[in-house]
Amino acid sequence: MKTSVVIIGGGPSGLLLGQLLHRKGIDAIVLERKTREYVLTRIRAGILETGLVSLLREAGVADRLDSEGFAHEGTIIALDDEEFHISFRDLTGTDVIVYGQTEVTRDLYDAREAADAKTIFNVEDVVINDADGDAPFVTFNVDGKSQRIDCDFVAGCDGFHGVSRQTIPLDVRKEYEKVYPFGWLGILSETPPVNEELIYSNSDRGFALCSMRNQNLSRYYIQCSLSDSPDDWTDEAFWEELRRRIPSHLAENLVAGPSIEKSIAPLRSFVTEPMRWGRLFLCGDAAHIVPPTGAKGLNTAASDVHYLYNGLLTYYQDGDSSGIDSYSEKALARVWKAERFSWATTNMLHRYPDQSEFDLKMQRAEIEFLRTNDAAQRAFAQNYVGLPY
Ligand code: APR
Ligand code: PHB
Repeated sequence: MKTSVVIIGGGPSGLLLGQLLHRKGIDAIVLERKTREYVLTRIRAGILETGLVSLLREAGVADRLDSEGFAHEGTIIALDDEEFHISFRDLTGTDVIVYGQTEVTRDLYDAREAADAKTIFNVEDVVINDADGDAPFVTFNVDGKSQRIDCDFVAGCDGFHGVSRQTIPLDVRKEYEKVYPFGWLGILSETPPVNEELIYSNSDRGFALCSMRNQNLSRYYIQCSLSDSPDDWTDEAFWEELRRRIPSHLAENLVAGPSIEKSIAPLRSFVTEPMRWGRLFLCGDAAHIVPPTGAKGLNTAASDVHYLYNGLLTYYQDGDSSGIDSYSEKALARVWKAERFSWATTNMLHRYPDQSEFDLKMQRAEIEFLRTNDAAQRAFAQNYVGLPY
């Protein structure tokens, strides 16, 4: 087989890149280790920056998002029993859109199928060959047969555990990582959200987040110990703990119900540099991970896709390689800012096992500064709605 771009990974990064290229007549094949059904069982954050919404429109996959997504003009930050509001709309002129990542992925798969674009599922043993030469090719096994695709470029969109990053030699690659000493226990429940906007809460029992997918589907998280397992938490225990971690007058509106999903995610900050090696480009979780506080994972993947797509477009349309040559530098400049925001917001809102009384005072002072200072709120809002591409 032969194609212009082999895209490894059929998560949101790979599918969005594939769809944008397809619309411009640039041929790409997506290789996915799992099935479409499996990919669509993953539940991830549900906040879309306007940059991502524009890209989805450009890719022609925003119809459902435009009719079913909810614009949120701000968010609530709580400390113990008190809360304040930060208005993104007043401070930046922009909203964010609440629409689940799983739905974004579903829309992208539907578009890919409608366009008859090639996706190969259940691939095993993917190997990227000669990425540092002029004629790369990708080999893999599917249905017990080995296959080879020759291509111009490889887009490594295969997430944190994929093969693409590992293909870059260790003497070229530098990795930066911070692992946090807690996780998030999340549940999805078919109940109305406790509040019309998200609530990020720092309480003396630990962090809590009240989020949602729609009027009758709520997503809630509480900070938990890394040694906990979802089975340790009955639904009742979860609701009780959540109630105690948000201001009492808001907790009065909390509607409990059976969880339809319950899982624990560890929190990690991670970046690999560079994001390009020869004809291989890393995109999304393959190159970087953020802790979920602030919902930057998918949005940062989207800015990578934006830079890579535009670089490939000028290469194929004008024979100009300046966009792909500057890809890593441009993508990383934005990635590090999203990393900083996610890290700072995580630090501001969580309880750490070794936190001293001094550390706690610093945390409170930071939240108090954010509550009362217009410039601090503006900076928070600018980061939350997404820095420019
Ligand atoms: N070969 C083929 N596919 C692979 C391989 C491999 N060796 N390894 C992993 N994959 C697939 C995974 O099965 C997955 O479907 O690559 C896909 C990567 O998808 P994600 O992990 O979702 O990563 P990405 O597409 O970059 O999405 C960005 O935003 O909110 C964040 O972390 C969240 O998934 C999210 C991310
Ligand atoms: C979610 O809705 O899952 C969500 C929202 C905001 C976050 C993280 C997750 O910061």
